[in-house]
Amino acid sequence: MSSGPTTALVTGGNRGIGLEVVRQLLEQGMNVVLGSRELARGQVAKDRAEFPRDRVLVVHLDVARDQQSHFNDAVNLGVQQFGRLDVLVNNAGIDYDTSRQATTADVAAVEKTFAVNLFGAWRTAVAAIPHLKQSPAGRIVNVSSGYGALHEMSGGAPAYSASKAALNVLTIKMAAELQESGVLCNAVSPGWVATDMGGGGRPIPEGAQSVVWAATLPEGGPTGGFFRDGQPIPW
Ligand SMILES: NC(=O)c1ccc[n+]([C@@H]2O[C@H](COP(=O)([O-])OP(=O)(O)OC[C@H]3O[C@@H](n4cnc5c(N)ncnc54)[C@H](OP(=O)(O)O)[C@@H]3O)[C@@H](O)[C@H]2O)c1
Repeated sequence: MSSGPTTALVTGGNRGIGLEVVRQLLEQGMNVVLGSRELARGQVAKDRAEFPRDRVLVVHLDVARDQQSHFNDAVNLGVQQFGRLDVLVNNAGIDYDTSRQATTADVAAVEKTFAVNLFGAWRTAVAAIPHLKQSPAGRIVNVSSGYGALHEMSGGAPAYSASKAALNVLTIKMAAELQESGVLCNAVSPGWVATDMGGGGRPIPEGAQSVVWAATLPEGGPTGGFFRDGQPIPW
């Protein structure tokens, strides 16, 4: 592992909360691998944001793909460039389906939501974990949602809620299995945030800060938890 700055991979880093997480992690001195579903969109985002060229690597990472090799390739490009991978932010997400109902759902569409919100995060983590284990400060942040919390769940938003609840399960499983390694794995709700997905809500930097908190936890910090703004919230 290189002795250079810590390095983070952010999926869906080309807009919304992901792009702002990239900006805040750079501000903290990290190098960032910016995963983008379409490589060109990631490059445009990097140029527009005027990120330092040598500290951001844009990689093609479409988390809806089902070949593990696509994920391994993206992670390996980042490790080749920066010599290490310390932090994974599973941010990419789709389908805030508040107008739909579980009872009348198009289940094929639900499968597509799971492909991104659950399996994409899962495959990215599987690719990243061997590198995170070599880091003195390995961290995984799964960007979840209050819609995935079982304790206040009712009808509506079926695909989104079920996929985020499943992402929370993945968080608990991985945190437990990574306990010995020192890699901390947490789920974070950014709150309701004014992105394309949110369509309103609080400023993007506030939502992103909720995520960055978990990406930069100190040694001995919490793992296997669900947080918003640095505070535990019920599953
Ligand atoms: N906004 C909120 O109020 C809110 C609340 C709770 C949780 N969240 C969660 O926060 C995360 C970010 O949301 P956001 O509000 O920033 O959403 P957004 O503005 O819609 O941005 C979504 C990001 O995910 C990327 N993405 C979608 N499908 C992808 C794929 N197959 N592969 C790679 N990237 C993909 C998008 O890339 P393209 O540009 O290529 O489409 C985009 O970069 C999501 O996980 C969301 O569920 C948001």
